[in-house]
Amino acid sequence: MFVRIPALLAIAAAIMTVASACTSPDENGDAVTGIIPAPISYEPRDAAPFRLTAESRLVVAGSGAAGVAETFAEQARRATGFELPVVEGMPAASDVSLVVADGEAPDGAAEGYTLESGADGVRIAADAAAGLFRGTQTLRQLLPAAIEQTDAAPAPEGGWTVPAASVADAPRFAYRGTMLDVARHFFPVEDVLAYVDEIASMKLNVLHLHLTDDQGWRIEIESWPELTGIGAATSVGGDGGGFYTKDDYRRIVEYAAERFITVVPELDLPGHTNAALSAYPELNCDGVAPTPYEGTEVGFSSLCASPDRAEATDRFLAEVTREVAELTPGPWLHLGGDESLSTSQADYLDLVRRIAAAGAATGKTVIGWHEMGASRELPAGTVGQYWSFVEPKGTAAELTRSFVEQGGRVIMSPADVAYLDMKYVDDPQGPLGGRLGLDWAKGPTTLDEAYLWEPTSIVPGVGEAEVLGVEAPLWTETLGSLAEVEFMAFPRLAAVAEIGWSPAAPDGRRDTDDFFGRVAALGEHWDAGGTVYYPVRGVPWRE
Ligand code: ACM
Repeated sequence: MFVRIPALLAIAAAIMTVASACTSPDENGDAVTGIIPAPISYEPRDAAPFRLTAESRLVVAGSGAAGVAETFAEQARRATGFELPVVEGMPAASDVSLVVADGEAPDGAAEGYTLESGADGVRIAADAAAGLFRGTQTLRQLLPAAIEQTDAAPAPEGGWTVPAASVADAPRFAYRGTMLDVARHFFPVEDVLAYVDEIASMKLNVLHLHLTDDQGWRIEIESWPELTGIGAATSVGGDGGGFYTKDDYRRIVEYAAERFITVVPELDLPGHTNAALSAYPELNCDGVAPTPYEGTEVGFSSLCASPDRAEATDRFLAEVTREVAELTPGPWLHLGGDESLSTSQADYLDLVRRIAAAGAATGKTVIGWHEMGASRELPAGTVGQYWSFVEPKGTAAELTRSFVEQGGRVIMSPADVAYLDMKYVDDPQGPLGGRLGLDWAKGPTTLDEAYLWEPTSIVPGVGEAEVLGVEAPLWTETLGSLAEVEFMAFPRLAAVAEIGWSPAAPDGRRDTDDFFGRVAALGEHWDAGGTVYYPVRGVPWRE
């Protein structure tokens, strides 16, 4: 429920409009609007709020609008108990109108939209269904937090109102992602679907799944069945294994696609491969399969570069990349390349060349962690993912520029600000805290740190045109449940989502007070929906 904030504070917040007045009072002076990521513009309208009622309908027009309406309605019906039929025709004042038509989004951006709300109805319009969906996520945040509840009781005091406003919005970067490591610990399909819903609310459009590592191979490969037969039985700490059948994986991809989220599969090669090596002796230089691994060390495993193993290794590379590419409607295939510390540089370069070529042969664009930039034989357009620190840059910066020099772009994931598995600064000792997270990336990461970085100012020579986008990875050495994943991701993922979507601040400075206020509003939604988060100090969380 909404908590009244002092009128002065609300007015001050409304004045801090900048490009995005995202905290503003409704007719009662209650703080209601907490949109994350901040839109390009939000203008309160001098009108009574919209009311969603039992009579409300979702009135659709244009290609893909009905599907977007159904996805929105599914949750809204659960929360409100209203019928919310999806229909075509003339919208009434109690209806939400969802329109896909040319010329509706700012600059025609595929993920852009406009939203108008007031007593005369809600109208969300976009040039493409993706933008319409993003607009429904803004509506989700403008509605009372109870819209997230999983059953229809209780309705919020004052009803299902939406403040009267005009929003125009579009993303800054094309790629806005988070990575979930399902290899160190395995997460069942239902957990992944829940996470997809949560990240969709922040307008992320990529879920990168780290599907393979030393501790487990998590995706069925029909031509190499022991990858999961043997390689999926383990995880960190002996917590059991698991893997996705192809049908499981298709379900994740489809569910994400309904939310306009692209799944990027990662097969981490040539290092981080103990699970694969343990399943197939012929992939090992000595022909001996190592024992499965349940620890947390890195850098000890590698595919074999020796010509003796070339037939098996190249067949493996061709077949696993083909089968995973076949499951992937999206354009990208992530092939790792990080921390391959047990190979010589010559062997590493040879293996990376073969790995990237196998990936490119599937027709996908290869993504690699920045170490892959050591190769000057990458397929044109290969994307690099920077995971070193905001400072210093050193070799990592050079390796990252190499992708740009070879015609590719860069995803920014600086570990000291964007890695969601870094501990919170207070190292909380609550029921989920204390034992969760790591601290190697310059210690714990605060919410301010997660928010106050600029992706185009990290690697010299990699500016706005070269940055494809941002991604917040979540490694799961210490995380074994969805609740633990959520605890580490939220609220810091909101910071990275805003960096990826919202316009760069004109003076290069982000306003943490404004952001923290909006995070508090999001916290109400997490409470209502049962999403776990860490109540970071400094955020004015509402009771
Ligand atoms: C990484 O954190 N090894 C990409």
